[in-house]
Amino acid sequence: MSAATGSNPAVRRLADWPAERLRDLAEEYGTPLYVFDIERTRENYRRMAEAFPETEIYYAAKANTARPVLRALADEGAGVECASAGELARVLDAGVPGERVHYTAVNPPARDLDVAVRLADEYPGVTITAGAADTLDRLAERGYDGRICLRVNPGVGAGHHEKVSTGGDAKFGVPAERAADLLEDAAESFEAVGIHAHAGSGISGEDLSAHRELVGRMGELAREVEGRGIDIEFVDVGGGFGVPYAPKEDPLDLEAVAEATREALGDVDAALAVEPGRYLVADAGVLLTEVNTVKEVPGGAVVGVGAGMTTLARPAIYDAHHEIRNLAPDAAERPEREVTVAGPVCESGDSLGEHRLPDPERGDLLAVGNAGAYGYEMASQYNSRPRPASVVLDGDDARVARRRETIADVTAVEPEENV
Ligand code: LLP
Repeated sequence: MSAATGSNPAVRRLADWPAERLRDLAEEYGTPLYVFDIERTRENYRRMAEAFPETEIYYAAKANTARPVLRALADEGAGVECASAGELARVLDAGVPGERVHYTAVNPPARDLDVAVRLADEYPGVTITAGAADTLDRLAERGYDGRICLRVNPGVGAGHHEKVSTGGDAKFGVPAERAADLLEDAAESFEAVGIHAHAGSGISGEDLSAHRELVGRMGELAREVEGRGIDIEFVDVGGGFGVPYAPKEDPLDLEAVAEATREALGDVDAALAVEPGRYLVADAGVLLTEVNTVKEVPGGAVVGVGAGMTTLARPAIYDAHHEIRNLAPDAAERPEREVTVAGPVCESGDSLGEHRLPDPERGDLLAVGNAGAYGYEMASQYNSRPRPASVVLDGDDARVARRRETIADVTAVEPEENV
């Protein structure tokens, strides 16, 4: 039986979350509150591992760095891809073995490289992915001679929004035509173990052409490199596996993506590696927020809630759609209406979008779906607003992954003499 059926459905919709439990959690921990179900992330990992056998799966930690999430995925067998020295430190500290950790260095500040080189020494097996010849030189200057993967710009981009399409952006990776020479040079000073590319966050069932093209180019490069006698261990084709944000969207057909990937890669000695972030965590999380204002305006109503762009930045930054559900106990009996859900931040872009909801009233609890990926991670303290709490569910247990910040946390970085 495929893991996508039976007890492990390919998607968990917002409607599938138990309203009563969410109301209890809001009562106990307050709002805004991120709620994350660890078991769902395990299911997502298992489904992906089943669709991609003999593939190294590195969880892109930037989607959600909560320690229980990192631990659960590592326990399932995942490796982890880190985007900064901070993520690297947290992932290693969470107990993920060095040999399963990759650090992708994008224009890395000196401080990041200093930390990465120190940690790679302390935790053997860490791989550093470099996207520029400069990065290789700077690593060598620091005495690093360990595992190196070369990030390549495949000239192919894809994404749900231009701001998350990286594959065609010259900022990321070395030009494909220079990659084999660079890796050959690098192999003299480092252990050259892999090649890497990431098109962006937009692999969708509708159009796999950009993905196929990227993987095809990486397959060609792998054969070129292997032909030059460089024994790479893996070809990493990045992440970007899409999830349905709207109820009418279907979940990704992972088996089809996996088949297209294998086919496009062709015959290489190296193992295939992927780096899903969103796919593993998005539908494992919801954001709970309370209605504090209902304002009738010409043509509709503005529903003011506690969570805004500082809590969940995706709608404001990418115009991203996140489903919203009214968790009021009598919601089913209320007439539905079209409303604008807006946060408390003094910016007109601070909106969670237009939604059709059972008529919201002050005090109602709303749940925002697919908040497990790039939700808490992109939260900020703008407007001196403390960041929300996040709790992690594991079966019947609930525990705090991040306590709610206070105003004292916001000002804690100010030196005494300024106060
Ligand atoms: N690997 C690399 C090198 C990446 O840069 C990324 C995402 C991933 C893997 C994972 O991509 P995913 O599977 O999660 O799509 N904040 C944006 C997404 C930015 C992604 C940046 N890189 C959002 O909320 O949609």
